[in-house]
Amino acid sequence: MLYINLILGLLFLIILGRYFYSLYSEGFYRPESWASAVKAGKVSRELYREFRRYRDKIRFFAWWLQVERIRKDKAEGCFAELGVYKGESARILHLMDPQRTFHLFDTFEGFSKTDLSGETGEAAGYTEKNFADTSLEKVREYLGESRRLVFHPGLFPGTASGLANERYVLVNIDADLYQPTRAGLEYFYPRLVPGGVIFVHDYNHKWEGCRRAVDEFLRGIPEAPVLLPDQDGTLIIRKNKQHEPDKSR
Ligand SMILES: C[S@@+](CC[C@H](N)C(=O)[O-])C[C@H]1O[C@@H](n2cnc3c(N)ncnc32)[C@H](O)[C@@H]1O
Repeated sequence: MLYINLILGLLFLIILGRYFYSLYSEGFYRPESWASAVKAGKVSRELYREFRRYRDKIRFFAWWLQVERIRKDKAEGCFAELGVYKGESARILHLMDPQRTFHLFDTFEGFSKTDLSGETGEAAGYTEKNFADTSLEKVREYLGESRRLVFHPGLFPGTASGLANERYVLVNIDADLYQPTRAGLEYFYPRLVPGGVIFVHDYNHKWEGCRRAVDEFLRGIPEAPVLLPDQDGTLIIRKNKQHEPDKSR
């Protein structure tokens, strides 16, 4: 009995310690502008909760800083995500700007056999079972009711065929494989407004197909991408704005 009490006490202390450390270390990871926004009551309770919970703070704040800039610039265009899975990243992006139309592309039943063929590196071990433990209904429920959320279940890029005239300002590509990543860049980049951003997740040596798709695509565009030091390597492509010389100088 004494041992059980000791173990339980120790567990309690560990949990308490972790909680206080997370409160203390919060300040290590957040930009000043976030702290000010929280203080001014401009961050919703739900988004704040996601910030506390989400393990990749650098990725979180890379999104948030771009969303804030987009809002400040009054830039038009929709948000989109290719690769939603259970909706974790989509929920965060939606909470960052709930009024923005947000297009969500996923099979909601994992990868397709055709996309998997020819993959090398880490993704060569993937099968149709990976990321299949989700469903459109579950993601809808998780993200909550909003007419701003537009679901496109099925295989991309086929699911974007009716959206030739859409314009995007922020796109999160997180599809892991060569074919959807390449197709995503080809579809979204020409429809990205000037100053708009594309985030490509998993740009690292383990995800060879994803990295190859990005490298091939970058050869054909003028923008120089920026790699983030987040957990899995996110590459940001920000579309160039038209250069307007400052005539006051
Ligand atoms: C890594 S998960 C996305 C994780 C999610 N962004 C997050 O952070 O919570 C990759 C997703 O891409 C989707 N996917 C990959 N290729 C696709 C394609 N061609 N069409 C639709 N969805 C695809 C898979 O179904 C899977 O759910």
